[in-house]
Amino acid sequence: MSLPNEILSEVEHKMDYNIFNIMINRRSQRAFLDKEVEWWKIEMIIAAADTAPTAGGFQGFEIYKINQKSMKQELVKAANNQPWVDAPLVLVFCMNPSRVKMNFPDNILKKFSLQDSTLAAAYAQLAAHALGLSSIWIGMFDEKKVMDIINTDLIPSSILCIGYPKKLLHPKPKRNIKELLHEI
Ligand SMILES: Cc1cc2nc3c(=O)[nH]c(=O)nc-3n(C[C@H](O)[C@H](O)[C@H](O)COP(=O)(O)O)c2cc1C
Repeated sequence: MSLPNEILSEVEHKMDYNIFNIMINRRSQRAFLDKEVEWWKIEMIIAAADTAPTAGGFQGFEIYKINQKSMKQELVKAANNQPWVDAPLVLVFCMNPSRVKMNFPDNILKKFSLQDSTLAAAYAQLAAHALGLSSIWIGMFDEKKVMDIINTDLIPSSILCIGYPKKLLHPKPKRNIKELLHEI
């Protein structure tokens, strides 16, 4: 059965922007074009991070946008000399447990802020891909060095490096659902 053209184009449009399509096609990109990310796309990425669920709704995280080239180069060094950290858009996600105003032990508040910060970065990463950008998640870095560079006493959880991709990467197979899911 063939679909009328107007329905087909609506279906194709929905598929293009469907969250599953974005998830499946997102790949880690380590080579970016020397092209700035438009301000409105940056705003949408930050707005997406802001929609992430957080413990108690307290948003126990902060985002640092790195504008200075020299600071990005310092971050490359702090991240085990990974050159792709010097990307057009660099966002450092930090835990801020002091925002989580809940009557729980410190270790729980710290855990909440780590989860808040990680989720916010994951939302931002998906939003970047939905906007035609690519990204790399950086977890390998010296926390103390990053804190010194961005001048904060908040612990960084991840660095998200974003830009226009240099090469097209195809989706790659992941774990089989039967192997991943443990039914107990
Ligand atoms: C917690 C975490 C830490 C990561 N740290 C780094 C990193 O320091 N450097 C890097 O190049 N990629 C890093 N990655 C990206 C992974 O290598 C990448 O997501 C993985 O190889 C799967 O590839 P894909 O994202 O294209 O599906 C990290 C990803 C996660 C989730």
